[in-house]
Amino acid sequence: MSSASSDRPGPLLCVVGARPNYMKMAPLVRAFAARERLPRVVLVHTGQHYDVDMKQRLFADLSLPAPDIDLEVGPGTHAVQTAEIMRRFEPVIDREHPSCVIVVGDVNSTLACSLVASKKGVSLAHVEAGLRSYDRAMPEEINRVLTDQMADLLYTTERSAAANLAREGIDPGRIAFVGNVMIDSLATHLPHAVTPAETLRRAGVSDAFVSQPEGFAVATLHRPSNVDEHAALAECLAALTTVARRLPLVWPVHPRARSNIERYGLNGIIDSGRILLLPPQGYLEMLGLMQNARLVLTDSGGVQEETTALAVPCLTMRDNTERPITVDQGTNLLVGRDSARIAAAVEDIFATGGKRGRVPELWDGQAAGRIARHLESALVPAGPVIARQEAEA
Ligand code: UD1
Repeated sequence: MSSASSDRPGPLLCVVGARPNYMKMAPLVRAFAARERLPRVVLVHTGQHYDVDMKQRLFADLSLPAPDIDLEVGPGTHAVQTAEIMRRFEPVIDREHPSCVIVVGDVNSTLACSLVASKKGVSLAHVEAGLRSYDRAMPEEINRVLTDQMADLLYTTERSAAANLAREGIDPGRIAFVGNVMIDSLATHLPHAVTPAETLRRAGVSDAFVSQPEGFAVATLHRPSNVDEHAALAECLAALTTVARRLPLVWPVHPRARSNIERYGLNGIIDSGRILLLPPQGYLEMLGLMQNARLVLTDSGGVQEETTALAVPCLTMRDNTERPITVDQGTNLLVGRDSARIAAAVEDIFATGGKRGRVPELWDGQAAGRIARHLESALVPAGPVIARQEAEA
């Protein structure tokens, strides 16, 4: 890896750490590479997620190049993980002298690398800025608020984000409404989605699960508020069981949820005839499952957005969302963990087809290009194009 000398623009250091970061960064890396005036990209993986299922497989699905730098932090408490990422990221900045650090989303890696960049006086861009659940018990909410306070450039996915940022005293001149890079990935990869029947065959399961006349549901759950405590997790499983009585349910289980199901001995209450547990799936498999599902149950932020873009009914097992546009305009409904409420919502989907959403403004598959153009105008002084190869020679 060559380090930047003082008369050359340093690279764009693009940071990923956990699964939802990859779908956001993949279109950005491509859009940055396509703009001659922008410096080259150096992709850094913090190692927050490390399983093959949670990392390599998704990189391949999204055609993300292998990271240039892997910090390999692995698991730990929030404090340990954040501190360890910071400790390992600082020498990367010292060596690379980046023009800008680009972070996405709200995971611990986002906050850790933002803190390092900001304290070292390196320009920081945050993609997916300004989303707020107003629930400080969510670790991601702390990460969002703090990252936005430090960012020099804040790229937002929905207009409500600017109002949230204004409340926190952030200069509107630093904010650009660009749309949703998550939907760029969806638009690129939807034609290559794997059919649900094929996903089940690959998992060694009969495809009968996804070929019933009533259709099938898909579930994803991993929020600490839903899966960390015994009582909350048992409530979630009861709700999934209620849904599964109506239609078969496919559940790719996050490692966090799986280990807690085992820890609390809750395996026995999952009806294996109606609920199919799968390992975490690849991106193309998840797209195929969501696109073809009659309904999706989730507590993931990204899935709320993807189902809105796909016009598939989404029942979010939370009391709040940092993505209100998915409720106001999309197919999303907040249902908490209440089995009766969830059963009523499922009946409504059977009776009426569920909420008819529309695709929000600028969720058009072109967000990464807008960010690349904006970043270029912010970072690169006007003047003749110096070909990147020449600048890097
Ligand atoms: C993290 C993000 C969350 C994001 C989610 C997507 C934070 C605060 N949370 O939560 O916003 O939606 O990723 O998955 O950053 N584990 C594995 N293999 C892995 C990764 C994790 O077994 O590859 C285990 C960990 O050891 C830990 C648990 O899963 O026991 C949770 O992982 P962690 O990275 O702490 O948080 P997530 O729940 O994945």
